[in-house]
Amino acid sequence: MITVVIIIMQLYPFPKPEIIANNPNDLIKSADVPENVATMLRLACYDCHSNETQYPWYSNIAPVKWWVYDHIVKGREDLNFSDWNSLSKSDKAEFLDGISTEVSDGDMPLKPYPLTHPDAKLSDADRETIAGWAEEYMEKLYE
Ligand code: HEC
Repeated sequence: MITVVIIIMQLYPFPKPEIIANNPNDLIKSADVPENVATMLRLACYDCHSNETQYPWYSNIAPVKWWVYDHIVKGREDLNFSDWNSLSKSDKAEFLDGISTEVSDGDMPLKPYPLTHPDAKLSDADRETIAGWAEEYMEKLYE
């Protein structure tokens, strides 16, 4: 019975957020992001906040995929690092402020994410580094 339910779940249509490999407006490509910050953003944020999502195998199996795909759709809608350079200065500033707050408060990456992605676990020092970078970048925007 459970097998039948799982098979039927797989048939339920839920479009997979597309992977786009070439993103000329990508944050790390277009802005001067220090290597250590770029590495952390790639490992801890890019799966949900860029077009370059890496899908682990289990993320493509229902019901997990409904949950994972939904985070990716919403994450990209809110903040997509792949589109960074096409944003206005004020949007960039707003996002940088949001990044600093979310990361300092421990709200991003989403809580369950580092359980399956140990490389995405941020220490307090990592959080300070990312928040410090975001604030510095924000100031530079208006120099
Ligand atoms: C597992 C998916 C996932 C990961 C990983 C993730 N986010 Fe998010 N993020 C979301 C979702 C979904 C939202 C939409 C709001 C919500 O549901 O909490 C969001 C919202 C945000 C927002 C709010 C955007 C706004 O509207 O101002 C910011 C900022 C943000 N994330 C930054 C980050 C940063 C920085 C990282 C990495 C350190 C990160 N996120 C990692 C899924 C993720």
